[in-house]
Amino acid sequence: MTKLAMFGGAKTLRRQDMTKELTGWPVITEEEHAAVRGVLEGGLFTSNDAGRGEVSALQRDWAEYTGVRHCAAVSNGTAALELALAALDLEPGSEVLVPALTFIGTAVPVVQRLLVPVFVDVDPVTFTMDPERAEAAITPRTKAIVVVHLHGLPADMTALRALADRHGLRLIEDAAQAQGAHYQGRRAGSIGDINATSLNVVKNLPTCGEGGLITTDDDELYERVVLRRQFGEDLRAGKDRDYISRMLAGNEKLSAVQAAFTRRQLARLDEYHLLRAKNVTGFLDRIGGLPGVVAPYCPPDRTHAWHILRLRFSAAALGHPEISDGALRAVVQRALRAEGVPVQPYQVVPLPGQRAFQRLTGLGGYPWRIPGVERPDHRIENFPVSLAVIDDSLTLQRIHLNPAAGPVLDRCAEAFEKVWARIDDLLPLARAAEHRPPWHAAMNAPEETP
Ligand SMILES: Cc1ncc(COP(=O)(O)O)c(C=O)c1O
Repeated sequence: MTKLAMFGGAKTLRRQDMTKELTGWPVITEEEHAAVRGVLEGGLFTSNDAGRGEVSALQRDWAEYTGVRHCAAVSNGTAALELALAALDLEPGSEVLVPALTFIGTAVPVVQRLLVPVFVDVDPVTFTMDPERAEAAITPRTKAIVVVHLHGLPADMTALRALADRHGLRLIEDAAQAQGAHYQGRRAGSIGDINATSLNVVKNLPTCGEGGLITTDDDELYERVVLRRQFGEDLRAGKDRDYISRMLAGNEKLSAVQAAFTRRQLARLDEYHLLRAKNVTGFLDRIGGLPGVVAPYCPPDRTHAWHILRLRFSAAALGHPEISDGALRAVVQRALRAEGVPVQPYQVVPLPGQRAFQRLTGLGGYPWRIPGVERPDHRIENFPVSLAVIDDSLTLQRIHLNPAAGPVLDRCAEAFEKVWARIDDLLPLARAAEHRPPWHAAMNAPEETP
């Protein structure tokens, strides 16, 4: 039996195996080059293109693709969420449910709108907001839910929509990781009252930099977003600029170069998705059969965009209940990385454990200083599922996005099989090591001096 790379054996996946052709992301073809040149030559650089430029075209394309009436392009996904929340015109101090396991970009816009994020633990299988826990978190101050389709899997939108309707709440999708995914036949990013997605270069629908898109079927919400993305000015096609700011708003527009790039990516999104799904499911089928490896599950009423692959590890399922899942994950992580597989954590602490939410710094202490707003209980122990998932799982990110990544994922599967064939060599290490959970550093970082 071959020796593990961690103990001096040969690596399974070498750096030179991960060529740009197989793992580079985004895939940039002559179409993107020509589109960007077209913008430079055409001279329509901004969003105010009277419907004739790339930004307007991207808005039309994304609206058509997702099956919604309106789309507004903005500068990034965080701005998209902030503008979506702003359009809802919620009273400052209103509570907004947010999953405890997500990227911080989901929760920061809530605070920026002087709204109170109320964190809700996730489901242990789908990693998305648990509708029952969401219901338990609702108070008379709750006004909206931000749903995240984490890793690319749509959340349980039927239950969350029913919950929102029962309690008169607005529903916002954060589809930053789920472009192209379906939920009961509808596209992610088309189901909420207003929805946001990110075009960051690492996303499934990337631009060559930063960008974001907002969608809604609601005419009024759309009008508010369009006003808010440029100083509250009404810049509709055919109108002369009047320099009247109809509301307090900043500048959150997308540039035509970013739009041109994304439009060519959008034209290939479904084709890439099908190839990626084949590569990923092949990989997951192989490693999901290894004892103690829990591969991600996709319920039959939805499709997964496979933006991030999260694998959980169960020591009990491996036949070693005396070892903690986190300790098993930690040794597997060392072994796989030594084999060349770039497994890594995705989020090291539930969001309420992030410094800003522990200290309630907010904007000069707001929204928490608004009279009537209660100080929340952000102890991370309140989010046991997120804690367990963060401790016992590893993710693969980005290397599988390229539709030609199949051979690299085959190598990754080989590395898993090699490590599992030698798992008995690792168990003493898992037993001996003093286990430090991934949130240790985040929760114990020294005081910063900004
Ligand atoms: C779930 C989620 N929400 C929000 C964002 C923020 O998007 P952006 O980086 O474009 O601001 C991201 C991007 O990383 C994300 O993954």
